[in-house]
Amino acid sequence: MTRDNAGWPKVSKHDNVTETVIMMPSQLFLCLIITALLLSGLTSLAHGGQTETEQAAELLATFLNAGRVVVEHNQSLINDPRKGDKGFTPEVFERSVLEEFSRQTHIHLWASPSSLPSSTQALLALLLRSSKEVVADAQFVINQRGIGYKNFIPATFGSQAARKFSARSKVTIKQTALDPRNLRNAPDAYELKVLLRLATQPTAGPPVSEWLDGGTSLRVMTPLYYSEDCLTCHGSPKGILDISGYPREGAQAGALAGAISIHIPLDHR
Ligand code: HEC
Repeated sequence: MTRDNAGWPKVSKHDNVTETVIMMPSQLFLCLIITALLLSGLTSLAHGGQTETEQAAELLATFLNAGRVVVEHNQSLINDPRKGDKGFTPEVFERSVLEEFSRQTHIHLWASPSSLPSSTQALLALLLRSSKEVVADAQFVINQRGIGYKNFIPATFGSQAARKFSARSKVTIKQTALDPRNLRNAPDAYELKVLLRLATQPTAGPPVSEWLDGGTSLRVMTPLYYSEDCLTCHGSPKGILDISGYPREGAQAGALAGAISIHIPLDHR
């Protein structure tokens, strides 16, 4: 090897040839490594997308349920016939639902920096907006004096919030049951299959989550169980109309009431 005037090694023609011969297998090897890395990267990206989607579905169900809990906690206020303005405004609802959600998940929404992916945050923000709209739409009814039961209960709130959200999103949220009071809540074939299976299980179970359509679409069913509080309407005597005007189901505490059903495509962003 010779050196040029600046002292840098000058590559002779001969050196060049040997280098090419030596580099060939190592370049090939490098290519193979890069391809393997790319492939594994893509697989883990797809897997990451699935995990993220599963978490989003779980948090949406928790959020809708938190809204139901807030309505339940305010039920006697909402049903108070002596009071006009109840102060149960969309802003009051928002504060309570965010508190209930962070109590259940330890996640503080809108905290910065957020622990959640931005697409999950956007879905939760849309569900909050839809839920607040339901509370806003019901203000006139809620603030009526002289009327006790106003049909503003967790179930009607939940169905309406879910419907508003689903109309604006690629994600569908629905409250469903085997023998629904409201036919708009009727289960589809998949929901029916899962509800029938859940109904035979003696104890409360975790959400059922399944990837369908070759892993491109996630279905999550979060079961709801009757507590004593629900039985004034859904309990005994079976067939006798409850305060909402529907026949009671004759259900017992602990039995499966239905589920919050979420359908979320992998490319939901
Ligand atoms: C004041 C009476 C009342 C109480 C109390 C009540 N529900 Fe309901 N429930 C209803 C009505 C009315 C509907 C139909 C709502 C609609 O129109 O979407 C309903 C619907 C439902 C649905 C959706 C499927 C369907 O039948 O349309 C589920 C699930 C449900 N209730 C579970 C519960 C649970 C769990 C509780 C207790 C935490 C409860 N309900 C308490 C009246 C009640």
